[in-house]
Amino acid sequence: MRIETDKIKSYCRSHPRLRELIHDVLLFDQVGSSNQLALEMAASGLPGGTVFIAESQKAGKGRLGRSWFSPPGRNIYLSLLLRPYLAPREYPLFSPATAVAIVIAIQRSLDLKAGIKWPNDILIGGKKIGGILLESKTTGDQNAPLVIGLGLNVNIETDVFPPELQGTASSLKIETGKNIDRTDLINVLLECLGDQIFNLQEGKKEDMLQLARRFSLTLGKFVQVKTAQHVIEGWAETIEEDGALTLRLGDQSHRSIVLGEITHLREATAP
Ligand code: BTN
Repeated sequence: MRIETDKIKSYCRSHPRLRELIHDVLLFDQVGSSNQLALEMAASGLPGGTVFIAESQKAGKGRLGRSWFSPPGRNIYLSLLLRPYLAPREYPLFSPATAVAIVIAIQRSLDLKAGIKWPNDILIGGKKIGGILLESKTTGDQNAPLVIGLGLNVNIETDVFPPELQGTASSLKIETGKNIDRTDLINVLLECLGDQIFNLQEGKKEDMLQLARRFSLTLGKFVQVKTAQHVIEGWAETIEEDGALTLRLGDQSHRSIVLGEITHLREATAP
């Protein structure tokens, strides 16, 4: 069944805080990338508060220059254009905030426990069911546009994934054995995202970070991080107040990781 924008719009209107945040919801059968579209609309002056949803994407974008598998009619591909009341240096915090919102929405809607692999992969049972891509073209100005893009594998079956994703990706249908109403899930997702966005804009980032640490699957593990320049291994100790991951290295020194690709190597059993 197609996503029903009328239901999403009336849900947002009936919810006092969402009404402040979300002014319009647009649904497209196919786009290149919902993030790209939102960025282009922002560049032509669209104010914040528009949600772009696509039934499919021809060029869905993932983190680190990857593509995002975006077949039609089964999943959620959603981008929210914001013009946050925060300095652009705080924008990276919308990434853990969105991850926290997705975990809470999945718990609330489906009674299913998901976790966050740093920085923002959403995993269930060790497999990836969702991801987040933040994009902004900031000039350093307050209220510069920010696009929060999220992709969630919802009603897709294992055999539909391309071979390279079969062993590592899953969907909410695979995990629950049930078809999920994407419209209802989007409503809960937007509500949870709204809660976290208000937390950030009202200076309660520590509340959000505590949840990000609680839902983290990375903290306490021995991990390998590939950055553009290095491969580093160490114990994942905490998520810092700017969202960076603190690693304790073998010589007991600490290193902050801002960007990178993580592999969980083993559980915490070290001294
Ligand atoms: C990741 O690599 O984990 C991030 C994936 C983000 C995918 C979403 S789908 C909606 C939005 N539009 C895009 O092109 N990408 C994001």
